[in-house]
Amino acid sequence: MIRFSGITPSGHAQLGNYLGAIQRWAAEGGEDDLYFVSDLHAMTTTHNPAKLRGLSGELLAVLIASGIPPERVFVQSDLARQLGALTWVLECTCSYGEAARMIQFKEKSKGRTGSRLSLLTYPVLMAADILLQGAAEVPVGEDQRQHVELARVLARRFNNTYGEVFTVPAAVLPPTGARVRDLADPARKMSKSARDSAGVVSVLDPAELVRRKFRRAVTDGGSVPEYLPEQRPGLANLLEIMAACTGTKPADVAAEYGSYGALKDAVADAVIETLRPVRESATALLADPGELDRVRRAGAVRASERGEHRLQSALRLIGAG
Ligand code: AMP
Ligand code: TRP
Repeated sequence: MIRFSGITPSGHAQLGNYLGAIQRWAAEGGEDDLYFVSDLHAMTTTHNPAKLRGLSGELLAVLIASGIPPERVFVQSDLARQLGALTWVLECTCSYGEAARMIQFKEKSKGRTGSRLSLLTYPVLMAADILLQGAAEVPVGEDQRQHVELARVLARRFNNTYGEVFTVPAAVLPPTGARVRDLADPARKMSKSARDSAGVVSVLDPAELVRRKFRRAVTDGGSVPEYLPEQRPGLANLLEIMAACTGTKPADVAAEYGSYGALKDAVADAVIETLRPVRESATALLADPGELDRVRRAGAVRASERGEHRLQSALRLIGAG
């Protein structure tokens, strides 16, 4: 069984990515699992090429530094030729209506003229990512569930129309509560593409900066810590982060601290300690571009060899090649 997921370099990896996704990927990893930096997905809206290249390298380093074995990671654009070909095949099995119905497309294109065509077709590239590798389980956040569903529909349709090639994938959602909120605006989830970084803790932030961000975290007016996610989402967020870092329960954390100040300092410490090994190891990798490049090239060869036979079969069955 292959588990497979990607992370888009649309910003610096943040605490929510780590606690909600990367850490889990590293812990649950099986022999055949694959994780990748989906850099081709970061071009569907205005982007800066040099910045994108930098963020892709950084994310690759963070994945490895988090404990995902280097032989199970790759960068998407290293498979651009195969993915481009498979995307075309899948676009020929997908209707315009199906693509235009995607919630993310509707939200991101709403009220805009001149949206990139890739914003519409990107879920088909995502289907190609998944189907090329024969993935059975795709761990993603709720916002990506619809895209995995499309991959499922396209896999079935292709198999029924032209012949069995693709594994039909299923989305795997993280347990409820695995959602880290922005420290400055608890109504929003923490996001690497947020415009204002005051409430976003990056995996590579220096310890002092992490501490400052937690000290300034919004905590809804009370004075004694209590775990009330509905009434006090900012405070609940801190308790949940602490619980995730220390393997405890948010309500138990609340009972341990008498003041908001003490709690904030303790959460900052726990996050700094959780991220320290990742930051140190990622920084070391980034300081050794030769090694990072070697890992990247080896990952590309492995992933592309694994997928090639599916692409060839799909082309043959659809009447090409
Ligand atoms: P994204 O940053 O949206 O590309 O998401 C990459 C992965 O990180 C997905 O599996 C998300 O579910 C997860 N993720 C992103 N932000 C958060 C967050 N604030 N809390 C928990 N998980 C998150
Ligand atoms: N689109 C996903 C996101 O923005 C990342 C992604 C790209 C992905 N291709 C994938 C996730 C394939 C799982 C499987 O979060």
